[in-house]
Formats: sequence, structure tokens, C-alpha cells
Amino acid sequence: MSTAKFHYINHACCVVAKNNAAIVFDPYLDGNPQGLTAKDIKADYIFISHGHFDHLGSAFEIAKHCGATIISTAEIAALATEAGCQAHAMHIGGTYKFPFGKVRVTPAFHGAGVPGGHACGFVVDFYGTKLYFAGDTALFGDMRLLPRLDPFDYAVLPIGGNSTMGPQDAIIACEFLQAKYVIPIHYNTWPMLAQDVYAFKAEVESKTNCKALVVKQGETIDIE
Ligand code: NI
Ligand code: MN
Repeated sequence: MSTAKFHYINHACCVVAKNNAAIVFDPYLDGNPQGLTAKDIKADYIFISHGHFDHLGSAFEIAKHCGATIISTAEIAALATEAGCQAHAMHIGGTYKFPFGKVRVTPAFHGAGVPGGHACGFVVDFYGTKLYFAGDTALFGDMRLLPRLDPFDYAVLPIGGNSTMGPQDAIIACEFLQAKYVIPIHYNTWPMLAQDVYAFKAEVESKTNCKALVVKQGETIDIE
């Protein structure tokens, strides 16, 4: 299995690229250090965890310019379709086999940002690279079930606190999720999300078997 590239744009927005294909999560581009705009993003699929502005972001614009399919809850998929985008509606607990691999939609304890909706997360097998993108969420005990349903190597977790898990809760999440690696996101974007990511790394690595991969905004790393 070839390596995938994990590119962290900013906030919760990351791109995973492999086999000349790319998926993007929660493309909020405002203030990204590289100054990327919607037109710079090339993706085949766009995952949207919920409708808050800092997640929905430029998703519809990106989808329209590159023809990407939006994968999200039924409520957000309906908005995407109305906006003229391709969308695949799923919902919590559902799985579907896409050409790149299997997707499971997971619960997330958070506001939906759209009327009648739910926030969610995703477990994605992208050509054999398996990751859990938690979305905005509180820590919840049923995270323990996720690796049993669909094992994954990487957990992409918010650690900013205030609106989601903070570092202490994210450490417990790592224990529940049994992932080999955690990639922290959704911190330091604003003063209320300020966290010491290296203190998080040191603590999670001393308390669990999980290794923290600190990816700076604008940086790309290789993942399995
Ligand atoms: Ni949110
Ligand atoms: Mn958020």
C-alpha cells in the first residue's frame, strides 16, 4: 500500500491525497497561512462534519469549481444540492462503499449548525489509509466502539477546548480509540482555542500507546 499525504491547511481543514485522488475535510480557509483560496483546492470528495461556518467554509465553492462530491449528513447534502453541488447524503451509523473505500458516519456531540441536523464525524478508508476524523465533538464513551466497528490507524481530533474536547479529554479519547497516531486539530485558531500542542503530545505519549503527530498549518506529512 502506497503512502498517503496528509496536508493540514488550518483549523479543522485537512486534505488527504493518495493514488492521484484527494479528499478534503471541513474546508474553512479563512486565515490559512498559505493564503489558499477555494480555487487552489483540488478534491474528489469533500467531507463536512456540520454546518458551522468554520467547517462548511468554502465547501460549496470548492465543490463547484472542481466537481467534487460532498459527503455529509442528509441536511447538509440537501443544502449542497440546492447550491448546485454534487452530494452524497449519509447519516450517523451508516456506511457506504465509495470507489476509494468505505466510509462510516459517526456521532459527534456538538451543534449541527443547520436546522434539524446533527453534527457528525467520519471513519474513512481512503485506498487503505484508515482514519477517524472526529469533527467538532465532546468526549463520549461510545468512542470505544468505533475501532471495533472499523479499525483505523489515525485519529484526527479537536483539542482546542471551549467548543470541543480540550487536551485532557482528547487524551482519554485516544485511550478509547486505540489509534496508533493522533493528529491534533481545531486549536490556536482564536485565543479561546489556545493550547500548548507539545504539552498535549508529551502527555498523551506518556499516558497512552498513541503517538501524537503535530502537523503545523500549511505542512504536509506522509501517513501510511
Ligand atoms: Ni462547530
Ligand atoms: Mn468548529
